Parts: sequence; structure tokens; C-alpha cells
Amino acid sequence: MANLDTADIQGFVLSSYAKNMPCANYMLLKINNVAPCKDWLKAIFNQITTGVDRKNDYCLNIAFTATAFRKFNFTESELITFSVPFLEGMSTKTRQNILGDEGNSAATAWSWGNEESPVDIVLLLFATNETEIAERLADIRAGIDLNKGVEIIQSLSAGRQPTSHEHFGFLDGVGQPVIEGTDKKATQLNRTGHATVIKAGEFILGYENEMQKIDDLPSLNTMKDFGRNGTYVVFRQLEQQVDKLWNYLKEKTTNSDGVSPLIEQERLAAKMVGRWKSGAPISVYRQSDPATGGSINEENNFGFAKDDKDGFGCPIGAHIRRSNPRDSLFGDPELSLLTVNRHRIVRRGRSYGDRTKDVYQNDGKERGLFFLCINSNIERQFEFIQQTWVNNPNFDSLNYENDPIIGVRNDINAFTIQGCPARTRVHQLPDFVTTKGGAYFFMPGMKALKLLAG
Ligand code: HEM
Repeated sequence: MANLDTADIQGFVLSSYAKNMPCANYMLLKINNVAPCKDWLKAIFNQITTGVDRKNDYCLNIAFTATAFRKFNFTESELITFSVPFLEGMSTKTRQNILGDEGNSAATAWSWGNEESPVDIVLLLFATNETEIAERLADIRAGIDLNKGVEIIQSLSAGRQPTSHEHFGFLDGVGQPVIEGTDKKATQLNRTGHATVIKAGEFILGYENEMQKIDDLPSLNTMKDFGRNGTYVVFRQLEQQVDKLWNYLKEKTTNSDGVSPLIEQERLAAKMVGRWKSGAPISVYRQSDPATGGSINEENNFGFAKDDKDGFGCPIGAHIRRSNPRDSLFGDPELSLLTVNRHRIVRRGRSYGDRTKDVYQNDGKERGLFFLCINSNIERQFEFIQQTWVNNPNFDSLNYENDPIIGVRNDINAFTIQGCPARTRVHQLPDFVTTKGGAYFFMPGMKALKLLAG
């Protein structure tokens, strides 16, 4: 059992704060001058939320890109102790190829995180209400204006979202691993059947991981265990085209009378996601949403191997089955779980933008998901999921298709729904999701942060 040093771990690693902090803002910063930047870090250090803080007004966390560490004059021998994708950056050619960011999702078209608009620091702010977040932001802004060592590139507001459903209409944040050492808390919260407790080292550096190893820590000459209690944060701004999805669903379910029953649209959408709008897994609830009306169903204690091997409930290419195939990857369910558990992420995202009033209308407003996740090994976890599962045209037994929800289309644009006596296949899926910005960050432990602040 991992004995987590929660006082040294930033709170964001252990909590999404979603329960009592519905408002969020992500401030992207550039370092202009290192000496005053360190003074600024020193000034905000005491406001950074740790894993032991129980705050009920706001929470603040901080993470850095590799460009920040270069500005801090980390030497080459220090830098190479960090992960390769982090050092290269999300917008470089190699990472873009791995992530499948092409066409409209290419980094050249991003509004931040690319060569034109690089980012050094992200400040993650969460608050109980709009007034609190506005006051905190004004405070942070005033500190930055006075200090002049850092400059605000963008202040990305997630605002307050009315529900925990993402813009397409589905309950979000259900399929999460439980970090070992925090499982008691998860049980206390009475979250239903979170089946997988994953070794802490998969999400926090310095602990044993699912390979039964403690990875080498990022290390500085002045602090050998600089990486301890830190983690990597993946941040992607993903725009969602809600009208495109729902018009597509309508078109594909229109019957010979020219009618498209809503239940059929929702069924096709659930097949694409792998859960009904309420969060109920379609693998378990095959006929209809057991919680019609949208009440929360966080069911997570299921696999595919025994009862849904062929994908007759949850299609093999559905979003949740590609991003977490559970026990279904190989013929042997236990071996599958062992493997899959080495490729998990903890998602910490929030929706942004107004809810659409009519899902079939393009109202010209941008909305989407600030996708954030934490993992100790970007290549083995986030990038692996994206490249080997989500974007893999030959995932499992499939042939030439990718994730029906988040896949970037080119000539690959089909989705197969396995069924008996026959499968069906829908074609010409458009892009429902476009990458608008992104970066890889390192979120240090509190001792390491203190060192950065000089
Ligand atoms: C706008 C983009 C996205 C949307 C709308 C979206 C939507 C959803 C929904 C509705 C669920 C089911 C509910 C839940 O378990 O939370 C889900 C689950 C999940 N998604 Fe996404 N997602 C998006 C992007 C991504 C990306 C980029 C990744 C990683 C590459 C990802 C990985 C996952 C994982 C791991 C699960 C949980 C699977 C499980 O354990 O059952 N998602 N997503």
C-alpha cells in the first residue's frame, strides 16, 4: 500500500475539486525575466493547494513546461532526466504525428502552445463561485502586473458548467482509476464500483508503478529528488462541434418515413461513446438508458471479456472501449487487465463555453473540453492511449476506422457496430472534435516548487 506524502503533492493530483469548486480558470503564462519570476513564485507559494489542504473558497495549482525549465537554466544533464515528450513539447512534429494532430487539429492552427504562442507556466484556479474566482483572478493579475517577470498569454475560462455532462450530452468523469493510497477516500465517497485501484507510481513520481518499479526521478544538481511527488499534466483544448454530431446521428437514424426518433439517435450516440447519457455502461444496460432524465449513474465495475466479448453491447471501437479496453484486449482477461492497467490516466478536465440551446444548430460559438490528465509516463500512458488505441485504424479486430467521438478523420471515417445476426457500419463521420491548443506540463511537488521559487 502506497503511503503518499500528501503534504508534498499538489492537490490537483489527488482531486478534481469538482464537488465543491464548480468554477475553473486556466491562466497560461510566459516567463519574461527569471529573477522577478522567482519572486512571484515565492509570493504565490503559500496559496498553492496541497493534498492535505481542505479549502472551501478556492484552490490553486501550478505546472511548468520544459521551456520554463530551460529559462530557469536547468543544464542539459538535468533536463534529460525529464520525459522525452515533455522536453520536446506537444506541438513538435514527432509528438504531432504520434497524437494524430493533423488538418484542422494541426498545431500550426492552434491558438496557444505552438511556436507562435508558447507557454511556460499554467496556473490552475478552482473556486466555489463566480465572485470568488473573479476576485482571485484580479488578485493574481495584480501580482503579475506588479512583478513583470511573467506575462499572461491567455486566461482560459471554463466558467461554471451547469452539470457534469460534457457538451455532447454525456456524463463525464466516470471511468477513472483510483490512485492507490487514496482508495479509502474513494470508498468513503461511496462511489459505486470503481473496480481498479492503480499503483500510485502510475500517477505520482517516487512510488511503485504497475511495472513493480519506482522510476528514476527527474533530478537537479541542487535537488537529487526534484521529481518526487510530481507528475506530468497533459493539457489539450478540444473544441466540440455539437451540431455536427447530432445532425450526423439524426441523418444516420432517419427511417424510410423520413423520421428520426430521438431514442434511436441517443442509442447510436451511446454506441459511439460506450455509455448512455446518464453514464450507464451500454455493455451492461443494452436496451435503454436506465436513468432516462439524466440522473447520475457512475457504474464502473464491469468488463467486456465475459459478457460482451464480441461487442454486441459496447462496440469494440466505442470511445470508452478504445480508451480503456479493460479485460478485452487479449483472449486472457487477466493478462489484458495487467497490460491495460499500465496505460491508464486520471482525467481532470472541465468543459468550457456556453451550453448550446439547440444541439442541431450551429450558433457560431466555440465550446469544448479543456482535457487535462495526469500520468507519470506520457509516452506509456496518454500518448499510448491516443496512438495505439484511439487513433489506431486496426484497433482490436477492426479494419480502417478510428475513435467515433474524438478521432481525427481523413479517409478513415467509419464506425462498426457489432451485432447479431449482422453488424452495421456507419460511414463518413465528420470531425466532431478539433484540437485548438495544448502543452505538456510538469507539476512539481511542494518541496521542488519551493526550490524553483529560490
Ligand atoms: C472532446 C473530447 C472528449 C469527449 C467529448 C470525451 C467524452 C467522454 C465520455 C462521454 C466518456 C464516458 C464517461 C466517462 O467515463 O467519463 C469518456 C470516457 C473516457 N475518455 Fe473521453 N472524451 C474526450 C476526449 C478524450 C481524450 C483526448 C482521451 C485520451 C486520449 C479520453 C480518454 C477517456 C478515457 C480513458 C475514458 C474512460 C474510459 C473508462 O475507463 O471507461 N477522452 N470520454
